[in-house]
Amino acid sequence: MEFKKVGVIGCGLMGSGIAQTAATAGFETIVVEADEKALDKGFAGIQKSLEKFAEKGTITAETKDAALGRLHKSMDLAALADCDIVIEAIIENLDIKRELYKKLDAICKTETVFASNTSSISITQMMTATGAERQRRFVGLHFFNPVPIMKLVEVVKTILTDPEIFDHVDAFGKQLGKVTVKTSDRTGFIVNRLLVPYMLDAIRALEEGVGTIEDIDNAMKLGCGYPMGPFTLTDFVGVDTTYYITQVMYDEFKEKRFASPSLLTRMVAAGLYGRKSGRGFYDYTDPKNPKPMNLF
Ligand code: NAI
Repeated sequence: MEFKKVGVIGCGLMGSGIAQTAATAGFETIVVEADEKALDKGFAGIQKSLEKFAEKGTITAETKDAALGRLHKSMDLAALADCDIVIEAIIENLDIKRELYKKLDAICKTETVFASNTSSISITQMMTATGAERQRRFVGLHFFNPVPIMKLVEVVKTILTDPEIFDHVDAFGKQLGKVTVKTSDRTGFIVNRLLVPYMLDAIRALEEGVGTIEDIDNAMKLGCGYPMGPFTLTDFVGVDTTYYITQVMYDEFKEKRFASPSLLTRMVAAGLYGRKSGRGFYDYTDPKNPKPMNLF
């Protein structure tokens, strides 16, 4: 089995990065979107990113041009019919993803492997929207933002994934230039399983007066060598996204360490979503000089 043609569904933040990475690695890549504006925006972003890499000398101008030549776009799922693997990166909503997989199962050839880039939804729950043959070929392929730069991919196996196909997808991840880690279909996989309780603990420490936003961030940055502190990170990921992940993880594990602290719940209710909304744990009125918020 050899993957030659890669399909990507969704051309937002993650889908555009995945498509760029696959095309740069030498795969014919076709991206399907439901929203034409998002598709154009995603492709403009890919072009800009590849140009930046070429200017910096990370890739040659020939590699950039070849990657752009391998990228194709469509608004029609039928364009994915003969792909060897389809990577889905659409909105994080189980019902919408299941509906998509049901349609896609009828469109794609029997051999096509389905891979979801979901951060928190159970791969098994999406997989059951497809037939028995596809269920053997259904995996998770969890990339990190920004995809062209972040080295890690989590390759996720369900209890029905064919072990040979799983190994093949793992090899494909390496062909994309990534370091792969293999994991099983448990909400949060490896990274979020460990990272989310850490972010939530930082919020609880803030609530208990253990330290200020700035001091807790500095403590973890300078004391542990983390590239950013937990509050800067939560604002970057999105306060609302973090909250959503706690809902899914708490639902699966029923453990307090995955439950949303009161402050996080209130921040979401108040619309303090982090960088994207201009305010979260920090105020980004001056984006180069964020100021800690007074949240009490
Ligand atoms: P996004 O909102 O930037 O992009 C999603 C895109 O999917 C939108 O452009 C939307 O028009 C399109 N879309 C929605 N329904 C569609 C359909 N039925 N058919 C085709 N296109 C459709 O979202 P983002 O951040 O790229 O996330 C996508 C997936 O990746 C989610 O499952 C998310 O959990 C996961 N993820 C996100 C990460 C992040 O840091 N944002 C990190 C790792 C995974």
